[in-house]
Amino acid sequence: MAALPEALNINEMKEKIEAILAEIESLACKTENEIEEARVRLLGKKGKITGLFEEFRTVPAEQKREFGQKLNQLKNAATAKIESLKDSLQESGASAASFDVTKPGDSFKLGSRHPVSIVREEIVEIFRKFGYDVAEGPEIEDDWHVFEALNFPPEHPARDMQDTFFISSSANSILLRTHTSSVQVRAMEKLPLPIRIICPGRVFRNEAISARAHCIFHQVEGLYIDENVTFADMKQAILLFAREMFGAESQIRMRPSYFPFTEPSAEVDVSCNICHGKGCNICKGTGWLEIMGCGMVDPNVLEASGIDSKKYSGFAFGMGIERIAMLKWQVKDLRNYFENDLRFLREFETFI
Ligand code: DAH
Repeated sequence: MAALPEALNINEMKEKIEAILAEIESLACKTENEIEEARVRLLGKKGKITGLFEEFRTVPAEQKREFGQKLNQLKNAATAKIESLKDSLQESGASAASFDVTKPGDSFKLGSRHPVSIVREEIVEIFRKFGYDVAEGPEIEDDWHVFEALNFPPEHPARDMQDTFFISSSANSILLRTHTSSVQVRAMEKLPLPIRIICPGRVFRNEAISARAHCIFHQVEGLYIDENVTFADMKQAILLFAREMFGAESQIRMRPSYFPFTEPSAEVDVSCNICHGKGCNICKGTGWLEIMGCGMVDPNVLEASGIDSKKYSGFAFGMGIERIAMLKWQVKDLRNYFENDLRFLREFETFI
């Protein structure tokens, strides 16, 4: 049997209890660690209060009741104090013990550029090298700059409510531009000749949103006006662009087309850079991918902006940025570009 501690000096024990009570009252801990140290010092296996409970066994029977109560009060006071210290530490939010200055910092994800921005900048950079300046125009436009000055007849279906978001439909309606060709009109109205510009921007069409259509998308418009500009100049500019954008081996072909603002007009295809012309599911087995519309600026368009069509000629082209991005990365669902799903956006981190 374990030997009992030596018989107790009762007064000494009372003093100890008083001293511990005073210690509890004056306890002030700033950190979780300090609170834990105090708890161990008082209530731990070898703590002061636990020690007193050991000594209690030697208290004479007639005094056990009184001392028992005192000891229990002491233990409760210590437990309550420790709890309240923990609470106030949490409330103050200064849980400093959990702030370990040696811990490596939390890493946070860097954002990345949006695929539309990446492609827009790539297109702009290519044309900048060819001597084109960037021009921008308003997204909220009037009928003149979006349609009238671009030779759209009044009954042209593109003006229809189904295509255009109208803001006001007075004589010269205010609307959201349906293409960036409006910027060429603004440029022709105010820039000195010759003009060589590239106009990136956001455009709006009243379309139901699906994998293949969206009511908001982006275009880049190009315009070159000078004396003696020919269709051959246009073809060469577009070929050089295609080779910079899709690879030095790229070929282009032009198919006759129609736009109110150009005559003649063409649709441009680039040789498929996935199958190199052999035919795959991206080019639908044709070996060609459609990338833009283009044409020689219609003399009516030059005249509408006050440019002498006898002296000057020019070419224009327009392409969809999402379409080029789609060909570059095979992202077929247009909605991906607008939903800001981080899983999609993070795929472009390497293009920063
Ligand atoms: N504005 C046309 C569209 O939105 C694209 C376009 C085609 C622009 C031919 C041009 C052009 O400048 O010459 O579909």
